[in-house]
Amino acid sequence: MDRTTVISSAEVQAQLAHCRAVAQLAAQWPEETRLAFVDTYGCQQNEADSERIRGYLKQMGFGFTDDEERARIIVINTCAIREHAEQRVFGNVGALVHVKRRHPEQLICLCGCMVQQPHAAKKLRESYRHVDLVFGPHALWKFPEMVHALLTQRGRTFSVEDEAGSIAEGIPVVRQDSIRAWVSIMYGCNNFCAYCIVPYVRGRERSRRPEDILAEVRQLVEEGYKDITLLGQNVNSYGKDLEKPMDFSALLEQVNAIPGDFLIRFMTSHPKDATQKLFETMARCEKVAPVLHLPFQAGNDRVLKVMNRRHTRAEYLEKIKALKALIPDIVLTSDIIVGFPGETAEEFEDTLKVLEEVRFDALFTFIYSPRHGTPAASMDDPMSREEKLANFNRLTALQDAISEEKHAAYTGKTLRCLIDGLSDDARYGLTARTPGNRLVRVAGDPSALGQFREVKITGSNKWSLFGELA
Ligand code: 5AD
Ligand code: SF4
Repeated sequence: MDRTTVISSAEVQAQLAHCRAVAQLAAQWPEETRLAFVDTYGCQQNEADSERIRGYLKQMGFGFTDDEERARIIVINTCAIREHAEQRVFGNVGALVHVKRRHPEQLICLCGCMVQQPHAAKKLRESYRHVDLVFGPHALWKFPEMVHALLTQRGRTFSVEDEAGSIAEGIPVVRQDSIRAWVSIMYGCNNFCAYCIVPYVRGRERSRRPEDILAEVRQLVEEGYKDITLLGQNVNSYGKDLEKPMDFSALLEQVNAIPGDFLIRFMTSHPKDATQKLFETMARCEKVAPVLHLPFQAGNDRVLKVMNRRHTRAEYLEKIKALKALIPDIVLTSDIIVGFPGETAEEFEDTLKVLEEVRFDALFTFIYSPRHGTPAASMDDPMSREEKLANFNRLTALQDAISEEKHAAYTGKTLRCLIDGLSDDARYGLTARTPGNRLVRVAGDPSALGQFREVKITGSNKWSLFGELA
């Protein structure tokens, strides 16, 4: 893989010219056919990429629909993190054969992490002939050019070369929410955890310039966004590759200094790069929400070593202790993999011990899923599926009990929450988030939407809190 490519503003401008050319073509079609359907699988990074795809599509003159029968263009943004995500995509794309038979002019596009893998691209090429365009995360910036070519020449296009990755500024976005926004601060990953496909499909770490990030956040705050999440596969190594290197703590300080009433969150952090300096910065910056998502994956040192995590269980626990000392009400979440190849029954017990010691507020738990081309995929994996599933169930039962207890402790408190959504529940018409991002179902009317309001917590269960406007 080569060095990452910086896409110049002239190149992005050229893409916008392709958008205008497509818009001219589309202007000749009946208006009701100028619709696109964008379907997103996977993580927040993928959601953020889909907002850019929608941005381009809007410039091409398209509106949006959730109905694949009505869409002139379908874009499916795929995920590769686990086998299940891939199976769902292949199933749904397979079913589109019938839709396309009814609408032969339809363009079907697949992008994202899954298609960047050679085996998946090959399968699409050979067995999914109704798919017109396939492009990986590296090629997203030239989506308009590829659509323009397809509309004028037909044929099929595959853009899935193995590259270190690109970085482009100035791509238009259509955001899905008007209160919470996601801002990518960096792309790619250099960690190569033994189980993970991300470094192969999203390329090397590359950071956006701080001035571009700050300008984007400033604009979001002006537009009224209240909750801004800085995104990257490994935000704690932000800035190492910049012309003028800076660290993530410095970026947080600068975002925190932007005037306005808003919250700053960030994810994902890697324990090896989460420093005391970061914790002190979080404690000092009043807009940085008291929440940290810090994946530990497994509680046993031998397993962590084979996973190539480059931290031990003791180091992880030390960091959590230091963070809790600085921010006592910190909300902690984590990712865990159950059944990594070779993990024994005793080693799994160490994962449960970490849960008991840290008492996370919530967890994202996964059964290990082998990924083509990663080191773990060729390791011996003797534990049966049933045993892994039993361990997984013990893990989630323990966490459910902890979450329920932690949630119960909120009852009676009054917290400044962001009212961020409406629900059709007759008793709780609003949803809100505590500063630590716990979900609260709130009784109240829609006029409070988008505001920070004092909410009195009146009850809870293992998934959420319940409250009323104070
Ligand atoms: N199998 C299961 N879970 C995985 N994750 C990443 N790769 C795999 C895999 N091959 C989980 C990790 C990561 C989260 C985003 O997904 O826990 O932190
Ligand atoms: Fe996100 Fe990773 Fe899935 Fe890609 S493979 S969509 S980076 S979770």
